Amino acid sequence: MASSHLLSTRDLSREDITSILDDAAAILPPNAGLVPIAPVLHGRNIVLAFFEPSTRTRLSFETAAQRLGASTVVFHASGSSVEKGETLRETFRTIESMGFDALVLRHSQNGVHQELAKWSTMSIVNAGEGSLQHPTQALLDAATLREHFTTLEGRKIAIVGDLRHSRVARSTADVLLRCGAIVGYCAPDQLAPTDEQFHAMPRFADVAECCAWADAIYMLRIQRERMPPTMVIDDNAYRRTHALTADLAASYPHLAILHPGPANIGVELDAEVLDHPSCLVHRQVTHGVAVRMAVLQRLLHS
Ligand code: CP
Repeated sequence: MASSHLLSTRDLSREDITSILDDAAAILPPNAGLVPIAPVLHGRNIVLAFFEPSTRTRLSFETAAQRLGASTVVFHASGSSVEKGETLRETFRTIESMGFDALVLRHSQNGVHQELAKWSTMSIVNAGEGSLQHPTQALLDAATLREHFTTLEGRKIAIVGDLRHSRVARSTADVLLRCGAIVGYCAPDQLAPTDEQFHAMPRFADVAECCAWADAIYMLRIQRERMPPTMVIDDNAYRRTHALTADLAASYPHLAILHPGPANIGVELDAEVLDHPSCLVHRQVTHGVAVRMAVLQRLLHS
């Protein structure tokens, strides 16, 4: 990686992606657990600031940093001086003044990470940005699929659901395409993406068509927190065309199934789907630790 930041999948070359996936595979060998690794980030200080809820990303970044020997501090926006009206810029300058080497940041506002990286001396690591970017999610998805299929070249991946509001869809589709996969999607019109990135991709009418076409299906949650208040989605109507039900999944035992989490069980997928023989959802989480270790090591180990 040319920069000391990880802001977007678009900053990564194909070689960067392959190299990060190779480093992560050395930490998490195929079908095994995480191997012990030297504490190469001993003496480095990392702050994790999440202005939106998170379970997987926050815990896995913290675990990754600690496994590499770094010290971590979690900044909670709730209960901080942000609530007294402090600006984001001043909050970040205050954090920087305490001597942190890296800031792992999740924020709902598009562009915050880019703005911060223009002046901060800390390495900025994007842990989720509005509807635009979630680069380490994309890398862990690629790592999970590469482990499952050995190569992504020519593999057909269908992304299903609320692509319009999804930073995961944008980042993961970008990385998968550059790894040689073929990416298609299906979404109800209200939740279909409008950006150019998706124009050339095959679009399917419903989840059943996706299952018949794809080697892997990537289910998304409806992201109501990013919708305009006027947008109303009827869960029952949505389920009829865009849910991966237990019966549908059972018809495709070799179809790899992914979801970035958190899943809304009973909406976009049934609970039984998590026990499908090719469900990779929990393996994605394990890859999340390995990939974030590979990224932190690359950015901070000099
Ligand atoms: N996939 C993902 O970003 O999950 P969290 O919101 O739990 O971090």
